[in-house]
Formats: sequence, structure tokens, C-alpha cells
Amino acid sequence: MKNNSQSDAIPLPPHIGDALATARSVVVLTGAGVSAESGVPTFRGKDGLWRHYRVEELATPQAFARNPLLVWEWYDWRRGLIADCKPNPAHKVIAGMEQHFEEFLLITQNVDGLHRQAGNRQMLELHGNIWRLRCTREGTKIENIEVPLSRLPPRCDRCGGLLRPDVIWFGEPLDPETLAKAWRAVEKCDLMLVVGTSAVVEPAASLPIIAKQHNAMIIEINIEPTPLSRLVDHSITGRASVVLPELVKALVKE
Ligand code: OAD
Repeated sequence: MKNNSQSDAIPLPPHIGDALATARSVVVLTGAGVSAESGVPTFRGKDGLWRHYRVEELATPQAFARNPLLVWEWYDWRRGLIADCKPNPAHKVIAGMEQHFEEFLLITQNVDGLHRQAGNRQMLELHGNIWRLRCTREGTKIENIEVPLSRLPPRCDRCGGLLRPDVIWFGEPLDPETLAKAWRAVEKCDLMLVVGTSAVVEPAASLPIIAKQHNAMIIEINIEPTPLSRLVDHSITGRASVVLPELVKALVKE
């Protein structure tokens, strides 16, 4: 019979606990893989959203201008799906790290809000948040957790303008202030963890490279190799919800 605890054990690089114990300034970059085990679909890979849906029809400003209802139906479906998901052990470990290190910043590409739900506050949501809406006329932002939305597409209570999800779509720039903060943090961190991202979407994909150029140690955690894997100090193959708790154990042991 298969012993699950044994098959889940991940061989960690030697002295990894030591590297964590001596780190002063830590940045964690996360992607959809962190939320995968909470039940949130990833974008790429076998069952990724972009296998079944066309980016150009659902996640670009042009798509929204053409057919706001279709875009909103897709986002409303995703919000419903995420609303049923809870943070998993990977989110919880990352939330604990915020308390542990002298300087800490979480940079996430995820829009699902699960890191905040797990307790992270020192964080940048590079691609926005699916629970926030933005008025296309006034730019006002509002929190909205209604599932499903009572009116599609939703409209601004104040001016009647069309509301859009406050997320970054393909072809749109990131918020410059958010990006500048992320850049500054990676330039001065001494340890960076890159967890559950395919590392193919810019500018997020460049952040570990910048950190490396500034002599940070980079540890990647992913279930499969990425373009980053050969550039990092340690690439650990395994599920985030298993590897991250193991890392914490190593930190305590060494
Ligand atoms: P992707 O879907 O591109 O990649 C998810 C990564 O997570 C893959 O490399 C998987 O191998 C890995 N993975 C899956 N399950 C895992 C697990 N349990 N533990 C560890 N790793 C796991 O998602 P992102 O890299 O986040 O952008 O994609 C980046 C951006 O592309 C997203 O933010 C989104 C998307 O289009 C926008 O919406 C602007």
C-alpha cells in the first residue's frame, strides 16, 4: 500500500534552513500554482484556463469594449468559483513568514484574495484583485463580494458608468507605483522565494532575475520546471502546500 506521507516527502537542498534562518529581507513571488490546491484553476498547463478560454475574448480591454457582458459573465463565474475556496497550507506558511522576517514583502500575481484571507498584509497584488471593481467613467474603486453579481454588467451607483474588474488585462500596464515598490523590494532582498508561477508573464517574470543580479538567493518551488529553473539557486520540485511547510520545519531544525 502506498504511504502518502512518505511519497510526499520532498528532499530539500542541504543547509536550506540555514539560508532561511539568516535571511533578513525576504520577498515571496507567487502565481496561480499557490492557489491551485485551494481549487482555483491555473492559467497554463493541462487544465489551465487558457486551454479552454480565449484570452482575446475575455481578458483584454478590447474584449471588454466589444462585449462587456461576456467578459463579466466569465468574471462572475470565476468569482463564484473562488468564493468557495479557502487558503491552503502554502498560503498559511507565507502569511506566517510575514511575522518571522525583519523585512518581508509578498508580491502576488494572483487576483483571488486568498493571501489576504490567510493573513498577509505586507503585499502587492501586481495584477489587481477580482473582488474590487473600478468605474470606467470616474475611476472609483469599490470592494464587492456579491456572488453572483445581481446585475450584469454591473454599473456604478454614483454615475451609472460601466464597472470593470479591477484586474490587469493583457496589453495593459501595471500600476507604476506598485511595480516600483516591487522592483525596490527585489533589489534589496537577500532571499527570494518564487512559488507556483510559470514565470512567463512580464514584468513579474523579471523580478527574480533582478533579485539575482543584486545577489539574492533564489529558491523556486513548482511542480515542474520553468524558464527560471536553471537560473535560480535552488529549484525544488513539489507542491507548494507540501514544500513550504517542509521549509519551515527545516528552518526550525537547523
Ligand atoms: P500559470 O497558470 O501560468 O502557472 C502556474 C504555475 O504553477 C505552473 O508553473 C505550474 O507548474 C505551477 N503549479 C501548479 N500547481 C502547483 C502546486 N500545487 N504547487 C506549486 N506549483 C504549482 O500562472 P501564473 O504564473 O500565475 O495574468 O500566470 C501569470 C499570469 O498569467 C496570471 O497572473 C494571469 C495569467 O494570464 C493576468 O491575469 C494578467
